[in-house]
Amino acid sequence: MSPDVIFRQLYDAASSTYTYLLADARSRDAVLIDSVYEQHLRDKALLDELGLMLRAVLDTHCHADHVTGAWLLQQATGCRYGISRRYQPGISCADMPIDHGDVVRFGERSLEVRATPGHTDGCVTFVSDDRSMAFTGDALLIRGAGRCDFQQGNAHTLYRSITGQIFSLPDTCAVYPGHDYNGRTMSTVGEEKAHNPRIGGRADERDFVGFMENLNLPHPKQIDQALPANLRCGRPEDGRVPRPAEWGPVRQTYAGLLEIEPEWVAQHRAEVHILDVRQPQEMQESLGFIDGAQLIPLNELKARLSEVPRERPVVAVCHAGMRSGQATVMLRAAGFERYANMRGGMLLWSQLGLPVRKA
Ligand SMILES: [Fe+2]
Repeated sequence: MSPDVIFRQLYDAASSTYTYLLADARSRDAVLIDSVYEQHLRDKALLDELGLMLRAVLDTHCHADHVTGAWLLQQATGCRYGISRRYQPGISCADMPIDHGDVVRFGERSLEVRATPGHTDGCVTFVSDDRSMAFTGDALLIRGAGRCDFQQGNAHTLYRSITGQIFSLPDTCAVYPGHDYNGRTMSTVGEEKAHNPRIGGRADERDFVGFMENLNLPHPKQIDQALPANLRCGRPEDGRVPRPAEWGPVRQTYAGLLEIEPEWVAQHRAEVHILDVRQPQEMQESLGFIDGAQLIPLNELKARLSEVPRERPVVAVCHAGMRSGQATVMLRAAGFERYANMRGGMLLWSQLGLPVRKA
């Protein structure tokens, strides 16, 4: 795809699911395809750090192997949720029912919706406006195809979907599947036409159906939990949005660190324990330190973790927020449950004019 499109492929190791982020680099409008419930904070952090506005979260189909992150992302961003209107009874919580021929826009760019049923009734493939990328969900996988033995699956239908809607794309069109279990990230239409062992080469409908009907796969592990949750668009049963922390407005960064704003720390100084991990001589320098901070230099922290009290949430602080980020990794490993890195460190703290003590 052209350079004015931002593209990221994200991975959930527990379910081997790929999530795709696409955005118009100019307008910053974005869509996410096949988000995973447990990864919503990661995805939100990436959107924030790249300065993108999520317009829609899309699912290629109603998944049986993981819960969608759609509802959580809707709560976080106000985006719309698009999934096929063909599921019966429909997934009524989705506010953007989609079907064959629809166009999903993000800024000046768009995705074409192609119905590719067979794995389930409502499977769709999203095709980029320049036909350089196809997001095939579980219809066409890399050297494979989605199973057809549950959720209204039908191998005859899937054969016609893949040959009619995906193999009709240019041979150079990249194929980005919903999953891969063998470390492969992408393929192309031409490559799958030639080498897919189920449907490539000279396989006809009978060959494909014969193959698919004899896969003898085990029942999907997650289906009993995933399907009912996905029919609710991934809304938890208690309707509560899980937060990174209950004690304060903690944010998870794309780097996976828990972070809190210096202003909040200043306003709630008495409720938290400040752990400053700079070297002692840095305390003498012009940035000063936060009143009551405990000083344990980062290189001594591992040996001195028992000195850090656990009664209050621990806010780690350093010069610019890098070493203290590493301190939070050590706190987590030591079993601390309430902790965060103070964003921007003492540099940002002093820029904001927050109170400091000088040695
Ligand atoms: Fe699936």
